[in-house]
Amino acid sequence: MSPEMPTITINGKACDFAGGQSILQVANEHGVEIPQYCYHDGLSVVASCRICLAEVWAPNPRNDNKLEAIPKLLPACQTPAGDGQVVSTQSPKALANQKSVMELLLINHPLDCPVCDQAGECLLQDYSYEYGRSVSRFEEEKLKQPKKELGPNVLLYSDRCIMCSRCVRFTREVSGTAELMVQGRGAHEQIDVFPGRALDNPLAGNVVDLCPVGALLEKDFLFAKRVWDLTDTPSIDGLTSSGDNIWVCHADNIVHRIKPRTNLDINKWWITDEVRAGYQRVHGDDRLTGPRRREHGVQIDTDFRRATIEAVEGLRRAVSRGGIAVLVSPMLACEEAYALAKAAISLDSGATFGVGPIPVDGEDRVFPEGAGDGFIMRAEKAPNARGVRRVLGALSSGDVLGFDAWMDAAQGAGGVVITGNYPSEWTTSAMVRLCKDEKRFAVSMDTIEGPVNDVCDVVMPGSTWVEKAGTFENANGVLQAFEQAIQPVEGTRPEGQSAMAMLATIHGERAGIFNANSVRGEMAAAVPALAMFETDVRTPSGAGLIESDMATVEF
Ligand code: SF4
Ligand code: FES
Repeated sequence: MSPEMPTITINGKACDFAGGQSILQVANEHGVEIPQYCYHDGLSVVASCRICLAEVWAPNPRNDNKLEAIPKLLPACQTPAGDGQVVSTQSPKALANQKSVMELLLINHPLDCPVCDQAGECLLQDYSYEYGRSVSRFEEEKLKQPKKELGPNVLLYSDRCIMCSRCVRFTREVSGTAELMVQGRGAHEQIDVFPGRALDNPLAGNVVDLCPVGALLEKDFLFAKRVWDLTDTPSIDGLTSSGDNIWVCHADNIVHRIKPRTNLDINKWWITDEVRAGYQRVHGDDRLTGPRRREHGVQIDTDFRRATIEAVEGLRRAVSRGGIAVLVSPMLACEEAYALAKAAISLDSGATFGVGPIPVDGEDRVFPEGAGDGFIMRAEKAPNARGVRRVLGALSSGDVLGFDAWMDAAQGAGGVVITGNYPSEWTTSAMVRLCKDEKRFAVSMDTIEGPVNDVCDVVMPGSTWVEKAGTFENANGVLQAFEQAIQPVEGTRPEGQSAMAMLATIHGERAGIFNANSVRGEMAAAVPALAMFETDVRTPSGAGLIESDMATVEF
C-alpha cells in the first residue's frame, strides 16, 4: 500500500485508491466481495438494483475528523470512496437489505435453474446462496412474463429478468443502436425492443454476457451444454485483425461458444457477433480431413508421413525448374509463417514469398458511431497479415509480395506451396490453373475443401486457430499469443507441424512436435529483426483462467 494514497477500509480490509473511484470499484480492485447486479465497469452507473447498499462511516472535519455513521445505507457503486471512510456490507443493516433485495427479486422469478443456460454462472443463483433467505414468504401466484425473440441471435426469457438495465444501457452507450427499452411499470416492467425494430447490430451478443441472470440467451448456445462442463481457454480473435481477446469454451474436443476476455487496451469487455460466431467453422462439414497425394494423375488418400515425403521430393525437383513460390495465408500464426519460410529456404534460398489474399469488407466501423474512443469492428477479415509479413520480410532475400504480384511471380515457378485456412472458399480460377499445370508441382495446406485442393499434387489439411497455439499481430501492431483450446480435428494438423515435418525430411531428421513457444524463442534468437517475439509478445493473464484439460503451451 502506498503511503501517499488515500485509504478506505471495506469490510475490515484497508484499501488504497485513486481519486474518483467509487467504493465498489475500490472493493472490486482489492478483491473484497460486494454483491452487485446493475453495476458494470463498462456502463454508466444507475444504482438501481440496491444489492450493494453499504453502511458507511466517514470522518467529519467539523468534529476533529471523528468517524460518524451516515444514517442511510449508501449504494457502494455510486458513492465516491473517501479517505478514512469505514465501510461495511456485513453489518446487520446491510445484511438485512441484501436479504430483502433477494427476496423481492425472487418473488416472480420462475426458479427454473435446472433448465436455464445461465445456471452455474448466474449471479442470482450465487447471491441467493450467499445473501438470500433459505425460504420464500411469498404465497401468491407468480406473475408470468413472456419469452421473446429480440433479434436474430438473442432470446429474452422475461420472467428471469431482474431489471438491472445493463442490456438497455449497452445498446445506448456502447453499440449506440438503442434498440432496447424498459416497457411497463412496477412488477409488470419488461425489457423489449421498440416496435418494428429488432436487436440486430454487430455487437448485439454482448447483452447476453452482460445479463447477470439467464434472461438474455444466445440462440446458438441454447440448451447446448451445461457451463460447468466447459473448459475455457484464453485465445485471440482468429477471424479479423482486431486482436480481440476471447475465451474459447469447449468440452469433449468440441467448441461450444466464444466469450469476450476483458482487455482494456484492446477490446475492453466486448466482441462483435462475427468474432463470437467464429468457432462455427471449426466443426463445419466442409473441413478438409485426411492428406492426399497425386498418383498417375489422380488424387488418392495417404498419410501425413507419405504426403510430407512426396511434398519435399516434388519441391526439390522444382528448384531447378524455376524455383519455389510460397503463399502464406494471413490466417496463419507468425510461428507457422516462420516454419514454412525456413523449410522453403532450405530447399531454395531464393524462394519467392507472398502474403495470401487479405479479405476486406467495407471500412472499419466505430461503435457508437462517430465516437473518438469507441469500439472498432475491423473491416480486415484476417487476424495476422502484419505478423506474417513481418516474419517473411525478416527471412526472405527478396520483397514479400502481395497476392496479385505473387500470382504473377508464381507463373515462372517450378513448385508452389499454397496455404489457406480461410473460413469460406477463397481460391480463384487463376489459382486452379496455376496448381493444375502439370509442369508445376503444387502443395496445398488448407482447412476447407475447394477446387485448388482438388488439383494439387499433395494436400495437407491444416488446423484452425483454436486447434493450435501461436501469435497474431493485430491491426495496431500488437503481438499477442494464444493457446491451443482443442486437439486438431481428426485428419488435420497445424500448418506449422507440416512445415516442421518438411524441414526435418529435407535434412533427413525425425520431426519433433511443433511448439509455438519454442519456435518464438528460436525466431528471436536466430533473426535479430524478430527479437520482438522474445520481448513484445503479450500472453494471456491467468485471471479467469479455467484450467484446460488439454495439453497447452507453456508461456
Ligand atoms: S434482461 Fe438481463 S441485462 Fe437486461 S435488464 Fe433484465 S436482467 Fe438486466
Ligand atoms: S450494483 Fe449498486 S445499486 Fe446495483
